[in-house]
Amino acid sequence: MAAPDLMDTITSLAKRRGIVFPSSEIYGGLRSCWDYGPLGVELKRNVKQAWWRSMVQERTDIVGLDASILMSPKVWETSGHVQGFTDPLVECADCRRRFRADHITAKQCPECGGKLSEPRQFNLMFETHMGPVKEEGNLVYLRPETAQGIFVDFVTVQQSSRKKIPFGIAQQGKSFRNEITPGNFIFRTREFEQMEMEFFVEPGSDDEWLKHWIEERFRWYTDLGLRPEKLRVRKHEDDELAHYAKESHDIEYEFPFGWSELEGIANRTDFDLRAHMEASGEDLRYFDQEENNKYVPFVIEPAAGADRTTLAFLVDAYREEEAPNAKGELEKRVVLKLHKDLAPTKVAVLPLSRKDTLTPEARRIFDLLKREWMCDYDDAGSIGRRYRRQDEVGTPLCVTVDFDTLEDAAVTVRDRDTMAQERIPVEGLLAYLKERL
Ligand code: GAP
Repeated sequence: MAAPDLMDTITSLAKRRGIVFPSSEIYGGLRSCWDYGPLGVELKRNVKQAWWRSMVQERTDIVGLDASILMSPKVWETSGHVQGFTDPLVECADCRRRFRADHITAKQCPECGGKLSEPRQFNLMFETHMGPVKEEGNLVYLRPETAQGIFVDFVTVQQSSRKKIPFGIAQQGKSFRNEITPGNFIFRTREFEQMEMEFFVEPGSDDEWLKHWIEERFRWYTDLGLRPEKLRVRKHEDDELAHYAKESHDIEYEFPFGWSELEGIANRTDFDLRAHMEASGEDLRYFDQEENNKYVPFVIEPAAGADRTTLAFLVDAYREEEAPNAKGELEKRVVLKLHKDLAPTKVAVLPLSRKDTLTPEARRIFDLLKREWMCDYDDAGSIGRRYRRQDEVGTPLCVTVDFDTLEDAAVTVRDRDTMAQERIPVEGLLAYLKERL
């Protein structure tokens, strides 16, 4: 399928199946804001859970944090965001549309051909006011990255968790950027979720750790099924580096609209801790007891986006195949070949008919399975169509309860990818599914 068509296909599938759709749509929507529906919320939660599992749960050298979105404005003055978190913006004199100056090459408006203004710097942070009075003194920002919560809490977390360097602090949560040109569905939005980890290391070991984290993070995507040929690592040129970074690499995915960043892995040096130490007057150095030495750690930061990653998994999993229908004729089968850990629904229980005779047993099986996984119960329409509905949203296994079930106490388990069907005794069903999920 041609690349732009694939984005349209994914966007319409996402809407039709309640994965992701425009926010406030009854009022015409709000540009670049999206809502995750019943299946989308499961998918994104699974992405975040897989990240948390690999970054926190399965490690002894990383701990979690959930800092607040609103922070002292001093944080953003000190981090350099008030001064430097800007994009160059140009505006068309005729249609008033705005563009990022670094995204367009022509001198005319790409929409109407009008004259464009000289570029001016536009700060991407959203501002609001705390308390009932809107005045300069109570200006606050919606955080543009989760990372700063980690830096300002560094000492409290390190001391309470008694972690020794090298160690990391991980955080997931919403960030906000008033992007000039959001777009490409959930790829670039103004409200999004980040999954960031700041790994504190001894100065001098930072280059090694940067390399380590690039490899680790690359592996995370391929372990969860992204095709390696669709992934690459790209080193930032000097003029692309963020104001805090000494070296940075992007893990990029080949989206239908081209190679684009999924995650940035940066060597932030001691920039943030040192700046906060100077501005707050607090000692944010780490005390190495064995060496009897105090120093400001360097930081390696793998920073990913939950929404972007979800989009990559959706795009990568989308397949159109030919498969025989009930009459043996070939027809198009749409299937999301999502990794089982990411699939929104793990098992669908499908009674062959709605007849009362099958319902109690099918319900009993559903009740047994729902304790373990997100399951679906669907008794509407032909069995072939129900399989197709589950394929389209990536459900790895379907359990069909038929009239023989009442005789032989067995069900048919159908595999999404191979479409193979196997007869399994109900008694051993849980164990069978556990082996595969
Ligand atoms: N703390 C470093 C930092 O925020 P970043 O490269 O600006 O670095 C990290 O952001 C990740 O957050 C990106 O790789 C991307 O996945 C996600 N992200 C950033 N801006 C986004 C946006 N406007 N919409 C969706 N995701 C975004």
